[in-house]
Amino acid sequence: MKNDNSSFKNSIRCPPVTGKIGPRGEFGGEEYLYFAGNNYLDLARRTELIEGATKAVSNYGASFGAGRTTTGTADIHLKLERKLAEFKGTEDAIIFPSGYLGNQIMLSGLIRDGDTLLYDGWAHPSIIEALPQSSENVIEFNHNDIDDLRKKIEPEKHGIVLVNGVDPSVGDLAPLDQIMKTTEGKDFRVLVDDAHGTGVLGANGRGTPEHFDITSDRIFQTETMSKAFGSYGGFISGSHDFIEKLRGVSTTYRGSTPLPPAVVGASIAAVKVAMKEPQLRNRVKENAQYLVNKLKFSNVKADWYGSGIVNLDISERPSKVISNHLLEKNIIVPYIHYPDSDSPGKLRLTVSAGHSKEDIDFLVDTISELFEE
Ligand SMILES: Cc1ncc(COP(=O)(O)O)c(C=O)c1O
Repeated sequence: MKNDNSSFKNSIRCPPVTGKIGPRGEFGGEEYLYFAGNNYLDLARRTELIEGATKAVSNYGASFGAGRTTTGTADIHLKLERKLAEFKGTEDAIIFPSGYLGNQIMLSGLIRDGDTLLYDGWAHPSIIEALPQSSENVIEFNHNDIDDLRKKIEPEKHGIVLVNGVDPSVGDLAPLDQIMKTTEGKDFRVLVDDAHGTGVLGANGRGTPEHFDITSDRIFQTETMSKAFGSYGGFISGSHDFIEKLRGVSTTYRGSTPLPPAVVGASIAAVKVAMKEPQLRNRVKENAQYLVNKLKFSNVKADWYGSGIVNLDISERPSKVISNHLLEKNIIVPYIHYPDSDSPGKLRLTVSAGHSKEDIDFLVDTISELFEE
């Protein structure tokens, strides 16, 4: 018997999750093909993560029940931080509950007196909310518009440029090569929120700067374990001195209960798998490329910029209608709100390493049918 999912449409865009998340997930007791979410490496259901979480819970219980700076630092927190530093090739790393808090934690250690903060117009709300409320020196520049950035940075002496590495809605990349050139010779740092780049982009999966082959001590990344790593929680990596500074100055870090055992156990396993299996991040890109080519072959336009996000061009068709049609065919592609407009003619598809060619073929065939109607 099917579950009763009749009420889900009032508040959420697909039936509730009732099984493990993956390219084929169980929603409302039924199997759906899943081209949504951010589980890019398809790790959330991996045995290593489940075993890591289970072992940690049976060892430590459900929670550490105290802040990191009092009695809540566990050996596995330290192990995860060491593992993330190894993954990033840095001296140290700091973990904290929720990637969303990363920009706030980062800025608490990065902002200097009189800094000008120039943020991309499509910056994620976690960047916007981290900006100081009182500062007059907070300036927006047009999304990925280097000329606008150049114009606005010109009169400024020192500060920070803040961008999404990969835009979460459209999937386009911040032009970091040009941003670095524009800020060269000026006392400006660049904060990259790499929630959607980490684990997917770059030769070692280290994110957008690595994708552009840029290493610079002017770049600071905020990252998450909730997307490509299939687990949960935020992290920042860097020099030991900088990470120690964040541990000292961030009240958000000091004042919150740390990641619980299950999450830490799963995250350690996730980082290990991501490092051991580089083919997973290659698969994400191969799948995205295959999807775009296949759509093109079927005369459906799509944009892709190299991440796990593909943007379907639906032109005049309402995204909600397309999304609901796909849902009826047991394919989950929720409509989302875009930063540039309410009716953008786009629909966001995400691919994972776990999608098969058959999954993608079925998606494209279904989309083509709908577009022919
Ligand atoms: C660009 C960006 N930054 C930060 C976050 C928050 O990360 P988390 O979900 O790990 O809290 C998200 C989540 O969607 C995001 O898209």
